[in-house]
Amino acid sequence: MAVSMVLFGPPGAGKGTQAGRIVEATGKPQVSTGDMLRASVAVGTALGIAAKQYMDAGALVPDEVIIGLIAERLTDDDAHDGVLFDGFPRTIPQAEALAEIAEVGVVISIEVPDERIVERICGRFTCGDCGEVYHDSFNTTEVDGVCDSCGGTSMKRRADDNEEVVGSRLSAYHSQTAPLVQWYGERGLLVVVNGDQGIDEVGAEIASSLAAL
Ligand code: AP5
Ligand code: MG
Ligand code: ZN
Repeated sequence: MAVSMVLFGPPGAGKGTQAGRIVEATGKPQVSTGDMLRASVAVGTALGIAAKQYMDAGALVPDEVIIGLIAERLTDDDAHDGVLFDGFPRTIPQAEALAEIAEVGVVISIEVPDERIVERICGRFTCGDCGEVYHDSFNTTEVDGVCDSCGGTSMKRRADDNEEVVGSRLSAYHSQTAPLVQWYGERGLLVVVNGDQGIDEVGAEIASSLAAL
């Protein structure tokens, strides 16, 4: 049975950081709508050009665009045994559309208070070669400017990772995305994890919650 998982939480909660560990443990591929949109922006497809204005403003991309992207992604061979969604669904219409096309077995909600979010997002950088996520203070590379995972040296920062846009991303989260906590809670699928602790501690809490299911 193809059961998928959802990693849920505010911007900067640590979804991408924890996704790698869950992929290793479960073998399910990570499906991040944010990463897919950024790839489309980088290539300059029509979808990317349309999405960029929303992303740069810290607003959500329209549901129909996102739902189309996911429906197409789920037809790929590696998605047949379920996937790990990261940053999707983000609205109730997206969750309703997902329920029509995939079975969600668990939603892991990483909770982090707003006052922690800005420092996390404004210090983030990623490896341009393999996508590994780092932080200026909380998760540094062993050698300055060199990726621990792949040895790459092209570190990148996201266009929307600045204090002005973070405010808009947080308000979009609270008004449009946070209602999903209740939505998935009512369906008995929500597992809440304390994201306001170290990266390894969050990982351990996720692992023990999944083991207890
Ligand atoms: P997206 O890329 O999904 O961004 P986001 O939800 O804002 O989340 P982030 O990727 O910023 O954070 P994260 O939780 O992955 O944190 P990370 O692990 O990197 O979306 C971007 C945009 O695309 C949206 O604004 C929207 O426009 C559009 N979009 C995407 N999906 C959409 C959808 N479904 N519908 C509509 N629009 C959509 O960690 C952050 C930093 O903190 C890193 O530096 C990391 O090293 C550090 N860190 C992680 N964990 C810890 C810890 N425990 N302690 C200390 N530091 C930590
Ligand atoms: Mg992310
Ligand atoms: Zn790398």
